[in-house]
Order: sequence, then C-alpha cells, then structure tokens
Amino acid sequence: MLILGIESSCDETGIALFDTNKGLLAHELYSQIDVHADYGGVVPELASRDHVRKTIPLIKKVMADANIAKDDIDGIAYTSGPGLVGALMVGACIGRSLAFAWDIPAVPVHHMEGHLLAPMLEDDTPAFPFIALLVSGGHTQLVEVKAIGDYQILGESIDDAAGEAFDKTAKLLGLDYPGGPMLAKLAESGTPGVYKFPRPMTDRPGLDFSFSGLKTAAANVIRSEGIILAGSKSTQNEDAPENVEQIKADIAYAFQEAVVDTIAIKCRRAVEQTGIKTLVIAGGVSANTELRNKLAKLMEKHKGQVYYPRHEFCTDNGAMIAYAGAQRLQKYGDRDLLIKARPRWSIEELPAI
Ligand code: KG4
Ligand code: ZN
Repeated sequence: MLILGIESSCDETGIALFDTNKGLLAHELYSQIDVHADYGGVVPELASRDHVRKTIPLIKKVMADANIAKDDIDGIAYTSGPGLVGALMVGACIGRSLAFAWDIPAVPVHHMEGHLLAPMLEDDTPAFPFIALLVSGGHTQLVEVKAIGDYQILGESIDDAAGEAFDKTAKLLGLDYPGGPMLAKLAESGTPGVYKFPRPMTDRPGLDFSFSGLKTAAANVIRSEGIILAGSKSTQNEDAPENVEQIKADIAYAFQEAVVDTIAIKCRRAVEQTGIKTLVIAGGVSANTELRNKLAKLMEKHKGQVYYPRHEFCTDNGAMIAYAGAQRLQKYGDRDLLIKARPRWSIEELPAI
C-alpha cells in the first residue's frame, strides 16, 4: 500500500511517500523560518498562505523523485490536528480534494500520533508496550502506548510546553526564532553551576509538568543581569555588561539543564510506575542532544532502552504522517467529502487499530 502524507499543522510543509512493503520512498520538507523570523514567532495567517504556495509543488516533486504516478498511490494521509486551524485546513483541503479527484481514500491523522510513531521509520524499532515522551512546541506528554491507537496520557504540561519554554526563553536572550535549537547551541559554551533554576513539580508526586514558572525564573535572571531592560518584557539592553555573551551562555546552560532534569525525573517515575522499560522520545525537543544523553543514561540504569527518530524526523515532517496514515488506512479510510481539521484533539480520543 502506497500512501502520500501531507503535514501542514504549523510552520513546516512536509510531504512524503511511504510504501508499507518498501518503506519510505521520498520525502520533502519546506520550513517557513524565513517567513516568520522577523516576527519572532509563527504568524498563523502567513503560515496558511505559505502552505498554499508550497504543498502542491512539493507533492509534484516527491512524486517525481520517487518516479511515482498518481495511479500508483493507494491513499492520502493528511494532518487533521492538533495545530493552527488555517494551516491544517490547507493540508486537509488539498489532501481530501486530491483523494476525491484520484478516487482513493483519505485518512485524517493526529499530529502527535505521527510524532509518537516516527521512530517506527528507523531500522531498529521499539516493541509494544512502551512509554512515549512527546516533547514539541505545543505539547509535553508522557503516554503509555500498549498498541497503535491504544494511548493513555500519564502526565502532561499544565501550562507551557517544553519547546514553548525553550522558544520564549531564547527570545528573552535575544536569539532568533525558532529559539530551541539556538538556545541549545548557546548552552554548549555555558559554564555549569553559575546559575541554578528550579525543577518544577518534582517535589510532589505525579507525572504532570509545568514550565511557565521556569521561564519566569529565567526571565528574572535575564533582567537582573541587565541583558534586557529592567521593567521590559524583552527589549535588549544596549548597555548590557561586557561579558554579556558568557552570561547568556551560562543562563542557557542552566535553563536547558533544568528542563532536561525535570523531564528525566518524570520519565524515571513513569518507568517505575508502569514497569515498562522501553522509552520512546519524539517531537521537536527530542532533537536536543542533552535530553537524549540524559534519557539514554536513565534507561541504561533501568536496564531498558530508549528509541528516537533520526534528527530530521524529530521535528515536523511528512514521513511520520504518511507512516501513521498507512497504519490507519489498512483499517479504515473515508471517501466522504468532509474536510477534517481539529485544532484541539486529545490523542486519547483516537480509536485503537
Ligand atoms: O515537533 P515540532 O517541530 O513542532 C510542533 O509540533 O510543535 O517542535 C518544535 C519545537 C520548537 O519549540 C523548537 O524550538 C523545539 O521543538 N526544538 C528544540 C530543539 N530542536 C527543536 N528544543 C530544544 N533543543 C533542540 N535541539
Ligand atoms: Zn510537531
């Protein structure tokens, strides 16, 4: 079965062709970083317009690269949610319409299920059951996965997602959008122990996360060190101290360390609570090297294993949508003309396969 996958939930247009026998045949990703950089974050209307411009040309390119004709394609998987509604609508309309025109089924895919299953695109895949740590710009969740579609959320962020906290703190440090990877890079030249931030919600039982207080703690230090103007939310101080770059790196180090530690503490609890010793990490923040290293050590200690997607499939991409869609299309797809876009959608609502 050959599936065309379309991802358009946020600021990346991802297109892929996945064959259930041959694996991934081709994939393309267009990132809108340049479109949003001047604004310091994603502008939803600009995101939608750019998806309109890029989706069809990328579909044509992927089909040409894999030497695939429209008659070879058995179904279309499109990201249906959660995400920005306008951006979702573009992929959903194009996916649904192409499926109608080509007389094949279409399947709406849950974006976080796409992330969760992304490690299945690698050679060495995790066996069920496993615990999935989903860490992206919009979500931080620990999910018990018994099978595809059998998901139970063990804990999640009650406020900001981990990626969001990375991005907001990066912005305060004067780093360009998207801040997560830039902050991680800056942290490489940071000195350990200069600053110490809290590990939120680790002093009480439970698997929920909270990152907004951590972001505020970082903001207070950034302000008190004179990096941004006192009283302002993010205006960079032109009279900042001479060693400002080192101070920024030290803050970035301490912030990343706090996020990584907090996540690791919750993962350890999830492993101990469930007895499951396979951990999958996915979503944009799973590209973070410190997080990967910390969780690898944790699972080694528990005589378990950790799995994650290759770097390019940690962040949004079409391959994970094509893969997730292929699993679901083997069970159901639809030929109705309903265009399904759901900005809010819990992964627990998905039917088991
Ligand atoms: O999964 P994703 O591409 O989009 C969403 O579904 O949200 O995740 C994007 C998030 C952003 O917040 C970005 O800053 C963060 O992932 N991110 C990172 C790293 N690479 C991407 N955060 C920390 N360290 C990284 N290396
Ligand atoms: Zn994502």
